[in-house]
Amino acid sequence: MMNQQNTMKKQIASFMSSKLSTARAAHVATAHPVNIRTENSKSLEAIPGPSGIRALPYIGPAFMFRPFGKFRPDKLNLLFQELHQKYGKIVKFRKGSSWAVFLFDPSLIEVAMRHEGRYPKRPSMPLLDTYCKRSGAPPGISQLTGKEWYDVRKPVQDRTMKPHIVAQYLPSQRDVADDMVSTIKSQQLHVDDMSKLLFRYTAESTGLFCFNVRLGFLDHRGCPMTRKQEDMLKSIRQFLALVAQSFYTFPTFKLYPNKMYRTFEKVYGDVQKTGQVYVESMYRELCEKKASGTLDPHEPNLLLALLNDDRLPKEACFRVMSSFFTVATENVAKSLSLSLWLLAKNKDKQEILYQEIISVCGTGKINATSLSHMPYLKACVKEGHRLGFPSPVGSVRIIDKDLQLDGYHIPRGTEVHYGHNVLCHSPEYFDTPKAYIPERWLRDSGNNTNNYLQSFIVMPFGFGTRNCPGRRFAEQQLFLALITLIQSFEISLQDPEEQLSIVYNILATKETPLELNFKQRKK
Ligand code: HEM
Repeated sequence: MMNQQNTMKKQIASFMSSKLSTARAAHVATAHPVNIRTENSKSLEAIPGPSGIRALPYIGPAFMFRPFGKFRPDKLNLLFQELHQKYGKIVKFRKGSSWAVFLFDPSLIEVAMRHEGRYPKRPSMPLLDTYCKRSGAPPGISQLTGKEWYDVRKPVQDRTMKPHIVAQYLPSQRDVADDMVSTIKSQQLHVDDMSKLLFRYTAESTGLFCFNVRLGFLDHRGCPMTRKQEDMLKSIRQFLALVAQSFYTFPTFKLYPNKMYRTFEKVYGDVQKTGQVYVESMYRELCEKKASGTLDPHEPNLLLALLNDDRLPKEACFRVMSSFFTVATENVAKSLSLSLWLLAKNKDKQEILYQEIISVCGTGKINATSLSHMPYLKACVKEGHRLGFPSPVGSVRIIDKDLQLDGYHIPRGTEVHYGHNVLCHSPEYFDTPKAYIPERWLRDSGNNTNNYLQSFIVMPFGFGTRNCPGRRFAEQQLFLALITLIQSFEISLQDPEEQLSIVYNILATKETPLELNFKQRKK
């Protein structure tokens, strides 16, 4: 009887979901049918948005946000919130001498996303582009466009997006998480700047899959870092901070190598030097293994596999790994920082997570199979990404085909920003949006009314063929850190009344130091 009921429930659910997706597909097809302009379509200029002096053309991207001078450059999420409140679901905004379009509606976002071509394009990063132009360095994966981008991206994602390849690094990355626990114990369980320790964790853990080595940012004795390692971490943090700063200042660095440019040059050079040493050494190992016939194509070694891939020249491989190392260290550390803060603030949720960890792996070590049985952990990370959405707006594309959206004609070449961040906090799509409720992401929570639309809102890793190729590695690092820390400690805020304040240095960052207390759990 029970079985029959369950089967029936499943059939109803599958029927409903097929109806839902058919209905949605029909809605998408009829409401926004083609990319061809119709008689009735309104022009891009007719989209609501700031007008008058606020819409005057400005010279270059650095002036993009000047009309909204009351907003701090590192709190531009508030500007986008205001744009949405004032002008609605589709908004135009002056960027340089042309208009950019902002979408604050998941259905419109869905249409635009589904319209994406073979080689999606994002706006460039002016400081990095200037550096490449001036120094003659080839552009990295995130700067490339068209087929050139695809030729690098394909061999890389063939490996980084495969769960079994990422899982090969789980045991060694778990050891790094254990070393973080040892370091906390050696600091008498009070950490006044946990973000710094998280950076050490992500740098060490990232070094493993980028260069196949332990770089020594953390060890099992909880030793402090050497001067060289401190400098390295400083360079990584400065790298993205300078790229962020370059978006909001007048780009004199394009005209001559100003102070910001020279600092960037040094920082970038330092980061690259480390990568170069390890890539060269792995390349020698590859040549030796090939010569002696001992190369194992299944060896769990991402760098070796990429160097051995004929589609990817050695130089490109070096660029990919250097950018992976920098981006991964910074992004994962910041994301982890926010997730940990939220769990320390919401101790009831931390307790539920602890119970899940204990029920799945006890006080023992986590493995890939047990990781796949931890829905609450994944829900905590997803809810953390909703409340601390990584970027101030969301994904962005320069569309390569004309697009009809909400009755407006958006010509190819327009920059379209997807307003994920604003929507993540919208009461229209999330009940009690300010609250940290991981349960809203659980399948059987009964909270699924908006699920379809929500899936177009909380997209911290972007979407489509140009999404984040490091997503699986990032998630593994996040999961391992949270499991290991919460398995060992009850974590609380040093100031339980503290409220979360986020700033955007490209990525969401906790504005003040992450001050945590750790109470060791009984075995
Ligand atoms: C929590 C951590 C991370 C977040 C939130 C994140 C987020 C993103 C987002 C939003 C994009 C743009 C996607 C789009 O435009 O649709 C992106 C691109 C990228 N990410 Fe990540 N990322 C994270 C970790 C990582 C890691 C660990 C790596 C490397 C292993 C990585 C490497 C990259 C690269 C190379 C690109 C550019 C891809 C391209 O242009 O083809 N990211 N990431």
